[in-house]
Amino acid sequence: MNEQIEFPESFLWGAATSAYQVEGSPLADDAGPSIWQRFTRTPGLVRDGDTGDVACDQYRRYAEDIALMKRLGLNAYRFSIAWSRVLPQGRGPVNAKGLDHYERLVDTLLANGMTPAPTLFHWDLPAALDDRGGWLNPDIAHWFADYASILFRRLDDRVPMWATLNEPWVVTDGGYLHGTLAPGHRNAFEAPIATHHMLCAHAAAVQAYRAHGRHRIGIVVNLEPKYPASDSDEDRAATARAHAYMNRQYLDPVFLGRYPRDLAGIFGEAWPHWPDEDMQFIRQPIDFVGVNYYTRNVTKHDPASWPLRASPVRQKQATYTETGWEVFPQGLTDTLVWVKERYGNPAMYVTENGAAFFDPPVVEGDRLADPLRVDYYRKHLRAVHDARAAGADVRGYFAWSLLDNFEWSLGYSKRFGIVHVNYESQKRTPKDSAHFYASVIASRGRVLNGSAAAIDSA
Ligand code: BGC
Repeated sequence: MNEQIEFPESFLWGAATSAYQVEGSPLADDAGPSIWQRFTRTPGLVRDGDTGDVACDQYRRYAEDIALMKRLGLNAYRFSIAWSRVLPQGRGPVNAKGLDHYERLVDTLLANGMTPAPTLFHWDLPAALDDRGGWLNPDIAHWFADYASILFRRLDDRVPMWATLNEPWVVTDGGYLHGTLAPGHRNAFEAPIATHHMLCAHAAAVQAYRAHGRHRIGIVVNLEPKYPASDSDEDRAATARAHAYMNRQYLDPVFLGRYPRDLAGIFGEAWPHWPDEDMQFIRQPIDFVGVNYYTRNVTKHDPASWPLRASPVRQKQATYTETGWEVFPQGLTDTLVWVKERYGNPAMYVTENGAAFFDPPVVEGDRLADPLRVDYYRKHLRAVHDARAAGADVRGYFAWSLLDNFEWSLGYSKRFGIVHVNYESQKRTPKDSAHFYASVIASRGRVLNGSAAAIDSA
């Protein structure tokens, strides 16, 4: 598209993190353990035996990180709240110290002119709830709404936007179907149940918000457009299954009150019949959708791949990130436009977008050149603009991630930050990508109009 790039004044420019990935001190101030506390302590599940015990120490260094974001010109911070800090047992008595921590974080953001954008659940379920079945127990919808209400009552006077869940697909796929993430189950019968209860929990929190809250609430999903590897009927059908499983499984119920039919075919006898009342309940009106976008998927039919019978095809002429994801900016435009068209153009935020690349060491003068990441951001920010130009109501963008951090089962082996973290000293060093992002923000995107060379020398 040729239109000149310029984002509106009101556009949110942020960065994102999540509690277990950056905070450290997981049990400080009487917090309870989460399932990630347990998962990281089970040998062989996380690369190099890494844990979130220290991570980026943001639980104690949040003021320093906020000052850094302010220097870079960011005007929003997406973080998550650790449920087991607020409710060590997941329900029951509130831990005032845990709640106070998030109040201080919100107040410090506001004092620095930044919009707090909290997510209520980013995968670190209280271990005490997992002992009661976690996402497999239907009561979790109420547990979650009760927890959410505590936050709404305490902070909604200062928080303008809330997200219920982060990426329920990953929780189901990694946590309940393939066992690669906490709680580490591998069970096709559990996966749809976990999905359904997450969606009910999301809806119960939205309903509770209408009673206590005065601002906006939404859900964050990770979307990955699927393109068929060939025109064959088999590849097209495989692509449709992959799309239903990953992209429509959550948004169809939230916006349309039904699951994609393909899911019954994918899960076979493991697919439950859900009552109509549940589907109506899940369809609570929401105020925005958060879209996390990293890559696309070119899909082929593959009978050996369980349970989808579909698998990705590696592209020859493409750049891949350190996590093996193809760099494909057009996919972000396609995704945002797809949400616009399928779900009636809801307000959207790109709540995560970024890449892990190998970073060279920080050199003297505190420079860290990460040209591949700069290129990734340049192209994806242009892609966001293209989606806006095509009419998608995208109101903000959050880089993943502010900091290098604990990348779940990959431990600290992958660096996603625009700010480098030295895990020995906890020193933060903004990478070139942070400076590049700062220049985009300062110019409201106008710098993206130039050629790559002009931008790099800016
Ligand atoms: C998650 C983050 C994660 C990132 C990179 C998203 O799936 O929300 O927690 O670190 O992707 O893998």
